[in-house]
Amino acid sequence: MAETKAPKMSKPRVFVTRRIPAAGLDRIEAQCEAEVWPEPLPPPRDVLLEKIAGCDGVVTLLTDRADAEFMNAAGPQLRVISNFAVGYNNIDIAEATRRTIWVGNTPDVLTDATADMAFALLIAAARRITEGQDYVRGNAWKTWEPLGHIGVDLLGRTIGIVGMGRIGYAMATRCRGGWGMQVLYCDTQPNEKAEQFLGAQRVEFDTLLAQSDFVSVHTDLNDTTIGMFDEAAFRKMKPTSVFVNTSRGPIHRHADLARALREHWIFAAGLDVTDPEPIPIDDPLVSMPNCVIAPHIASATISSRNGMAEIAADNLLAGLDRQPLRCWVNRPVEE
Ligand code: GLV
Repeated sequence: MAETKAPKMSKPRVFVTRRIPAAGLDRIEAQCEAEVWPEPLPPPRDVLLEKIAGCDGVVTLLTDRADAEFMNAAGPQLRVISNFAVGYNNIDIAEATRRTIWVGNTPDVLTDATADMAFALLIAAARRITEGQDYVRGNAWKTWEPLGHIGVDLLGRTIGIVGMGRIGYAMATRCRGGWGMQVLYCDTQPNEKAEQFLGAQRVEFDTLLAQSDFVSVHTDLNDTTIGMFDEAAFRKMKPTSVFVNTSRGPIHRHADLARALREHWIFAAGLDVTDPEPIPIDDPLVSMPNCVIAPHIASATISSRNGMAEIAADNLLAGLDRQPLRCWVNRPVEE
């Protein structure tokens, strides 16, 4: 263990980059000399770097980039970065590990909420729900139309899951159990549970694109997944298919998706994530009737957010004490 990382006798100094639920924040404030950023918008970068100087721990959000500059600004005493998110692409894990800074995340507690959001986006896009709402609000609804607002059926279709981890499995369970769908998936690893209990079949990416009626993305963002949904991928999908992304925005190329939707290479899309976030209001995707966009709210339920706050506090407090984190991203091989 590096000398500079030893737990302090006085209360540790921490910065929390936004207010998080009291389920975690109360304990952080009781046990630490904590400063909490009070604004709804993130601290500007220069302010963030100033605020973390001398901190022993930081609670970050997915909107805070924790890279070498961040770690330099904090100083060598920084022991733990507790990310209030399951994804941690905002953190340079290799750099944190090199500096023996422990990183925690908040998995599991948001699995069902995120799968519910993926399914909600799938059905909203397939059945043109937001388009219908705009129609009502725009006073365009004049009569019941036998040929209007036709969407795509769900029952017995094929769902393609990209990334069969916890959330992908929960989404596949909904599609299989509720709608009797066939499940195809792509992953770097086979998922035996999904194969045994959901009859899921692991296939090549191109096969998944060609054979799925719905494609739902649940992989993390990394060098191999960035931009994986590009023009070539969308062109391989069925014209009746729906694309859903609740993972990270850079996994699909926005301009290619806009073209796929405009030119009807695919039927519709449901997105909880965009690149950048927030998506600029003049981005073509925003005004496309066949694109449903939510503002990155998949984990926004009471139990998920409280659970995330509890884990984020547990991770922070354990890391400050140099005790094993509850949910560890860069568990040391030897300490
Ligand atoms: C949300 O996107 C998360 O990673 O928790």
